[in-house]
Amino acid sequence: FLISSALILLAYLLGSIPSGFLAGRWLENIDIREYGSGSTGATNILRVLGAKAAVAVLLVDLLKGAIAVGIAKMSFNELPIASISEHNAAWLVILTALAAVFGHSKSVWLNFSGGKSVATSLGTLLVMTPVVALGGVVSFGLTLALSRIVSLSSLVSAIAINILMIALNEPFPYFIFSTCAAAYVIWRHRGNVERILAGTEPKIGQKVSH
Ligand code: G3P
Repeated sequence: FLISSALILLAYLLGSIPSGFLAGRWLENIDIREYGSGSTGATNILRVLGAKAAVAVLLVDLLKGAIAVGIAKMSFNELPIASISEHNAAWLVILTALAAVFGHSKSVWLNFSGGKSVATSLGTLLVMTPVVALGGVVSFGLTLALSRIVSLSSLVSAIAINILMIALNEPFPYFIFSTCAAAYVIWRHRGNVERILAGTEPKIGQKVSH
């Protein structure tokens, strides 16, 4: 129990690493939360700080999720530190994934603000089930190519991932993870949904001055 709790806490702290906020501070000495959509995620970094910073933040945010789940998977499946069944291990893996996803958007270092958890969720999925993660990336890319709207692409891929979990007969805990993560990601995008419906959501490539 202690090991599981420690891994979940570690995943939350990893998710909490305020990469986008730090990029804003280091590169332009701004609080990224005061610009664009107010998110600390790579999309808003692209809008405000440009492509190089956005790619760096995207990679770090992906890694936060991937490392959190990687550590959990190794501890529960391969190391003898926690002798639990494969079934329980899968549930603990998804708890660490959810902790990282939650940490990214409710960072302990940013008064519980942050990003919208898309990149970190993808990072966790890449380690959990790479095929489904790839499906998420493809659906994201297709929607982005058609709409030029990142938030819409995130929403479509969150739902596509959930469908893929069922279609590819992934373990039940992974399906529960994708359902919770999709619901959370959609909730984090509620402002974007309003703007999409009103036709005012910015398209990719529109910069914000600061
Ligand atoms: O990953 C976040 C993206 O879907 C939307 O970001 O900054 O446009 O709200 P943003």
